Amino acid sequence: MDSNFTIQNLTSKALVQQFGSPLYVYDEEIIKRQCQTITAALQNSFDQGAKVLYACKANSNPNILKIMRLNGIHGIDAVSPNEIEVALQAGFLNNQITYTANYMTKEEINYAIQKGVILNVGEIDTLKKLIEYKAEVIIRLNLDIGIGHHNHVNTGGNDSKFGINLMWKEQLIEIQKQGVKIIGLHQHMGSKIMKKDHDFYLLGIEKLFQAATQELDLPYLKYIDIGGGFGVKYQEYEEISDLNILFSEIKKLYDKYFINVKPMLFIEPGRYLIAESGYLLCTVQAINTNKQKTFVGTDSGMHHLIRPALYQSYHAIINSEEKQIEPKLVTVCGNICESGDLLGIDRNLKVEVNDVLVVQNGGAYGFSMSSNYNLRERPAEILIRDGQPYIIRKRETLDYLLANIVIL
Ligand SMILES: Cc1ncc(COP(=O)(O)O)c(C=O)c1O
Repeated sequence: MDSNFTIQNLTSKALVQQFGSPLYVYDEEIIKRQCQTITAALQNSFDQGAKVLYACKANSNPNILKIMRLNGIHGIDAVSPNEIEVALQAGFLNNQITYTANYMTKEEINYAIQKGVILNVGEIDTLKKLIEYKAEVIIRLNLDIGIGHHNHVNTGGNDSKFGINLMWKEQLIEIQKQGVKIIGLHQHMGSKIMKKDHDFYLLGIEKLFQAATQELDLPYLKYIDIGGGFGVKYQEYEEISDLNILFSEIKKLYDKYFINVKPMLFIEPGRYLIAESGYLLCTVQAINTNKQKTFVGTDSGMHHLIRPALYQSYHAIINSEEKQIEPKLVTVCGNICESGDLLGIDRNLKVEVNDVLVVQNGGAYGFSMSSNYNLRERPAEILIRDGQPYIIRKRETLDYLLANIVIL
């Protein structure tokens, strides 16, 4: 039987044979395509007046960051000191990195100031700690508008821990008088904004522009950061945003509000740049049928891709081979001791033991959210470049997992 799911002409079965299972595989051509599409669309509306920062929490493998840098991505949005380190190692400069931490420790503040990255601060208490440094900061606002595919990724509104509400605007101005220079405003409303969300999303953008020009007195304003969240298609029926249209709408609002001062616009996509390039390959170990359901048990699971368990996210799953058998309604699961360890519920699949399954759109928030739960190793990561596979992260080992254990 022919293996027929290929990534740059390499069959997934051959990749698993060469590098083992489970495996994360990234197609460099898709990463490049996404970088080029979003930078071109932004430039169409904003010319040189806007920059794309990759929100590297989506996938922080340094090789991925380097690909981004070489394909027109201007900077990195980091959320921890380690992400800053990785961004610097990938060749980004400190002034190309925003540090959008939340609830920063004193050590993190000292580190970020010493590195000279652009601080993005979302709490009044943290701003107060920055007075002694006379720091320059972007302020993360929560303007009561949140969007997202799940409550956990909706980052605006009263249920969100993120950002400063404008009810504190007097305090913001007071802190500015005490020496903290507000050089930018930021808002990230949530993750996976689709075409259907445009009107609401643009309302949020308008609120941010109004805050910058009408609500707050910001003599040092240089940046206006509208966050990330641009969606990709996980299911057939979903409609993604036409970024040319979306950015041109944002530009209209920008021109309406920013008449004298023209701050540089930042966007911070994560998912958009990397989701579609990544595949989680796993192998079916056993198929277990009860009176009602059939479970297709793989050698991967929620420890490698937690999105289905955490957000009930949908990832398309296909068999890497075309099979001449009848399809069955099955639930694809992992090998973790949790009932919620399901990768895909009620899927029509033609599947047998030993088949390699391809979980699609695994590039964003896949490996980066993985864990060692059940003391299991994380998979290797493979980059396909010019038709050749390269290991960009080795499979973990027991020694690696136990490296920090102190036996008493
Ligand atoms: C502040 C901030 N910026 C950008 C992003 C990237 O979001 P997305 O991957 O949906 O583009 C996130 C995601 O959580 C975020 O919290």
